[in-house]
Amino acid sequence: MTVREVITIGDDRLRDQARAIEKSTPEITRLIEDMIETMHVEGGVGLAASQIAELVRLILVEVPEDEEVPGSGELYVVLNPEITKTSGDEITLGVEGCLSIPGYLGEVERHAWVVVQGLDRRGKRWRKKVEGFLARVFQHEIDHTNGILYIDRLTAPERFWKEEAFEGDEVLV
Ligand code: NI
Repeated sequence: MTVREVITIGDDRLRDQARAIEKSTPEITRLIEDMIETMHVEGGVGLAASQIAELVRLILVEVPEDEEVPGSGELYVVLNPEITKTSGDEITLGVEGCLSIPGYLGEVERHAWVVVQGLDRRGKRWRKKVEGFLARVFQHEIDHTNGILYIDRLTAPERFWKEEAFEGDEVLV
């Protein structure tokens, strides 16, 4: 496993649409291993392959175990993730960060729950309804596969802070 460089804002590759993965291959398995290592070293709760300049539709999500967040404490690896259903108008407000926008945080609205489907790391069909913080991280990472960053979704331009100016819980996704 290799820790890979996380590309940051200003790098146009973050704005590209990632390609679908046709099937699980040894290269994809190696990429997944590198991404896991990178996410752990960087202290993120999620990572998209686009963030290490691999423009394929592949995300990781791993939020710390929390009794109030169903499905937390587990590592999710999803190929070709897509949102097939949302809570619609039922939204939550929260503060997000991003390993590709180091040093900043911003307020973003997200669906309270979403249904995500895709393939697991073995290439088997996978589907799950996720809610709360876990749903937020999935929405953030799936945005990356479409070249969208959380700063595109700020509730207001002024709801964006330098990390040191923000008082509250920090979230890195
Ligand atoms: Ni991010």
